[in-house]
Amino acid sequence: MKRQLHLNLFINSRGHHEASWRHPDASHLPLADIRYLQELSQRAEEGLFDSIFLADQLSFRGGGAQLSLEPLTALGALAVSTKIIGLIATASTTYTEPFNLVRQFTSLDHISNGRIGWNIVTSWSAPAARNYGYETQISHTDRYARADEFMKVAKGLWDSWSDNAIVDDRESGQYLFDDRIRPIEHKGEHYNVAGPLNIPRGPQGWPVLVQAGSSDTGRRFAAQHAEAVFTAHMQKATAKAFYSDLKSLVKARGRNENQCLILPGLSPAIGSTEAEAKRFSEDLNDLTDTNEGLARLSARFGGTDFSHLSLDAPLSPEDFPDPSTVESARSRTEVIIGVVRTERLTLRQLLSKMAGARGHYVAAGTPEQIADLIEDWFTDGVADGINLMPPVLPKMLDVFIDEVVPLLQKKGIFRTDYHGDTLREHYGLERPVNIF
Ligand SMILES: Cc1cc2nc3c(=O)[nH]c(=O)nc-3n(C[C@H](O)[C@H](O)[C@H](O)COP(=O)(O)O)c2cc1C
Repeated sequence: MKRQLHLNLFINSRGHHEASWRHPDASHLPLADIRYLQELSQRAEEGLFDSIFLADQLSFRGGGAQLSLEPLTALGALAVSTKIIGLIATASTTYTEPFNLVRQFTSLDHISNGRIGWNIVTSWSAPAARNYGYETQISHTDRYARADEFMKVAKGLWDSWSDNAIVDDRESGQYLFDDRIRPIEHKGEHYNVAGPLNIPRGPQGWPVLVQAGSSDTGRRFAAQHAEAVFTAHMQKATAKAFYSDLKSLVKARGRNENQCLILPGLSPAIGSTEAEAKRFSEDLNDLTDTNEGLARLSARFGGTDFSHLSLDAPLSPEDFPDPSTVESARSRTEVIIGVVRTERLTLRQLLSKMAGARGHYVAAGTPEQIADLIEDWFTDGVADGINLMPPVLPKMLDVFIDEVVPLLQKKGIFRTDYHGDTLREHYGLERPVNIF
């Protein structure tokens, strides 16, 4: 069988376009209504997607429409309203304790029968710090250092139970083997955790470990820990360079490069003609609010004010802080400055590009054009899969499933049925075996 493409549905607001929530084709359900997430996940399952993904920010962001449910709680509901699709959610290593989080993910892996993935983030958004007792944000370097120790503890806790610890023998009166469960006694700079975990090892051993930081430090972290990587690029060339760099870092760690999948974001507007698709995008752009766009841009740069810049004069990289000094979403600032440098955009044009999907790749075309683009990325060293970010939900997900998925299947690069039951099986990832 040909190498197979992976598809993840990234669910955000009523779509990834900043103005999606106002579009007539967007869902009319409240964003905190669980039926909204259930319907989208079930639809993605009908489309044979590998997984769905819920992101998370730990502070209130004004403007626009934000998805408001806490994602791990939401995954609990999705685990029982879907059957086979993988379920991935963000959780922060900066603002949680490993023992809490490992308990939650292990429980979810049991509840879903092995379909859970954890998007490990260090939380780039500066205002989150003040919700957790900090005056200012912990630095980029320190967040990643803490994340490394967090992962050591998390993996230790997952491995504190042998796969065969439970015997459940009513006759002999033995429920489990005590010597197949052991403490971890971790004492470190940030965490002291005795262990063992108080929940048996989940069906997948560990949940699938996903990561979405793309700075130098983020890449090294991904090369060490990640089994799937989400990444944002506005240009194919940078996505390709990222793919090859990360795969070499993974190999350099002695890992098999096929055990670290790379899924760049793609936000396609799809129409029966290219002109119709473009009109759909333009109509959405007409609904955007410049101040909202400026606020989002400012947040990416940790609060830099851009409101003094003219909207219609070409920007230069000097209008932005040096990314190495940015403590928030460092790699996204590199993406933004990169596109300013190569395309000489005005601020208005940049805001409009960012409105599409916050710095991910935006495309408008026919189903054939979108399927060809995906095939090109998949075969030209850019992607192992796509993190699909429909501009308007559910409309553009429906069109993608009805019109693009069959073309990908016809090309022989996407499944026509699920083979396997767990997210690890969908992604072709090994299950960490732990017998002691
Ligand atoms: C598809 C995608 C989803 C992300 N989801 C989240 C999220 O839910 N919460 C969060 O704090 N950061 C999220 N991020 C941001 C990254 O985890 C990371 O913090 C950011 O890219 C800055 O880190 P870096 O400088 O190493 O890239 C996401 C990034 C991408 C590409």
